[in-house]
Amino acid sequence: MPPDQEPEIKIECSDLSKTYRTANEHVTALADVSLSVTSGEFVCIYGASGSGKSTLLHTIAGLSDPDSGNVQVDDRDVFQLTRNERADLRRERVGVIFQDHNLMAELNVLENVALPLRVGGTRASEAKTLAHQALSRLGIDNLAVRSPSELSGGQRQRVGIARVLASGQDAILADEPTGALDSTNSEALFILLKALSADGACVVVATHDPLARQFATRTHTMIDGRIAMEKVAGR
Ligand SMILES: Nc1ncnc2c1ncn2[C@@H]1O[C@H](COP(=O)(O)OP(=O)(O)O)[C@@H](O)[C@H]1O
Ligand SMILES: [Mg+2]
Repeated sequence: MPPDQEPEIKIECSDLSKTYRTANEHVTALADVSLSVTSGEFVCIYGASGSGKSTLLHTIAGLSDPDSGNVQVDDRDVFQLTRNERADLRRERVGVIFQDHNLMAELNVLENVALPLRVGGTRASEAKTLAHQALSRLGIDNLAVRSPSELSGGQRQRVGIARVLASGQDAILADEPTGALDSTNSEALFILLKALSADGACVVVATHDPLARQFATRTHTMIDGRIAMEKVAGR
């Protein structure tokens, strides 16, 4: 689909708070986090390990409930939705790429990329075509019949992104996408995410990799569960 026909998406987090309570301690993972992201942006959530980045991404994706606050995707309040409705929302609108990127070991690359489409009711032949197109766009169609276990970290990350592209989701949430990559592959991945956002995707990356800040249109630094600072590209 050409970029100008791409549907817009707006994700709005308001006053998200979350405290993990264990026997001995309380850890505040999110403290009044408000954040708004939309199509065409590449937003970097930057911070040290333990600062709350993964919790924020899981909350935006509707995978982890906050203690208070809410997340809206367009006009839908994510935490008013049932578990199944949230799963549908992820499959249709908000694609998630986590560090282990949940590729199914028993499926090959093409089948992994086509899986969300098949779950959503797309015919097998059409799902396969869309999966091939997404793999081609990322330059890895040659890996279509490989098993995920035969791929490098960088290749697996690309497959995770191809799966989002094939499914046509409007937002991409990626948690430490370069965690397993060397600097060359990390740069290639950020260039790719930037290109996708320039094409109209809404990209949110949680990372402690300083390189991300060179490619993001906006960087928020997280410290102890708070969004402490905003840096806009070019300043
Ligand atoms: N399931 C959990 N139970 C208890 N504490 C947790 C849990 N998940 C995360 N935390 C704590 O919450 C804080 C934020 O974690 P996380 O969101 O994973 O940060 P980051 O992704 O920035 O490393 C950390 O102190 C972490 O130890
Ligand atoms: Mg994390």
